[in-house]
Amino acid sequence: MELLEKLKKRKATKAYNSNQKIDQETLNYIFEFINSAPTSMGVEHWRVLDIKDSNLRKKLLDGFMEGNKQKFLDSSDALIFVTKNREWFTDPKNYQKLKEIGEAKSKAFIKEFNLKSTEAEIMAKVNEEIESLRTGKNLNVLVDNITEWSKRQAYIALGYALVAATFKNINSTPMEGFKKKLTELLIKENLISKHESVAVCLLMGYIDNTNHPTIGKEQIRINIKEKFLIK
Ligand SMILES: Cc1cc2nc3c(=O)[nH]c(=O)nc-3n(C[C@H](O)[C@H](O)[C@H](O)COP(=O)(O)O)c2cc1C
Repeated sequence: MELLEKLKKRKATKAYNSNQKIDQETLNYIFEFINSAPTSMGVEHWRVLDIKDSNLRKKLLDGFMEGNKQKFLDSSDALIFVTKNREWFTDPKNYQKLKEIGEAKSKAFIKEFNLKSTEAEIMAKVNEEIESLRTGKNLNVLVDNITEWSKRQAYIALGYALVAATFKNINSTPMEGFKKKLTELLIKENLISKHESVAVCLLMGYIDNTNHPTIGKEQIRINIKEKFLIK
């Protein structure tokens, strides 16, 4: 089936078959797909926790809204997109990491456009960008809230993940139905630092056909003619 046909049939899964797990090869494909998502300034604001362990799921359960708890427990893979907060960018301990990212990106940019720049010029540019992240202002865009800007990047990755899962015939549920407590619980379990937080989640697995209210019904979307304006 063509990708668009599959996407038109995809729906947010509300009940998972807890006995059916995604195989490692498919999972690797989806991870590669997600990892190819772009990020603003190439900063790579997010990382992904894939929570599989049932004991750990029980410990994190209170971090989710009531209606999402059962599917969190039953899904094969529960992805949590974790993003860097403003404090991560302002913490001097992370300057080295930012410098490495900035340097690699600047060198690639210079090669791509055949620019002639010295090492010192590249580093000056990198430092300028790191400084701009600290103040919230940069050359291309005015970033008013760095923490929110980080989270927006995770949604691009979420979009990639939804497409990849659909392509591989995996059912999925994008999930914003979690509480601040989820971030606190992940910090408690030493899975994230206090300078990171949860942006969005994605459950993946196989639908429980026997317990699914919307299975077989059409996707409901506003008509393209109403939603897209060509001038
Ligand atoms: C960012 C985002 C967050 C969502 N959060 C939840 C959620 O917490 N729980 C849930 O059951 N569905 C959640 N959904 C699913 C939407 O309700 C669903 O995609 C929408 O109603 C359209 O239905 P469809 O995708 O099945 O066609 C979320 C969807 C998106 C894109």
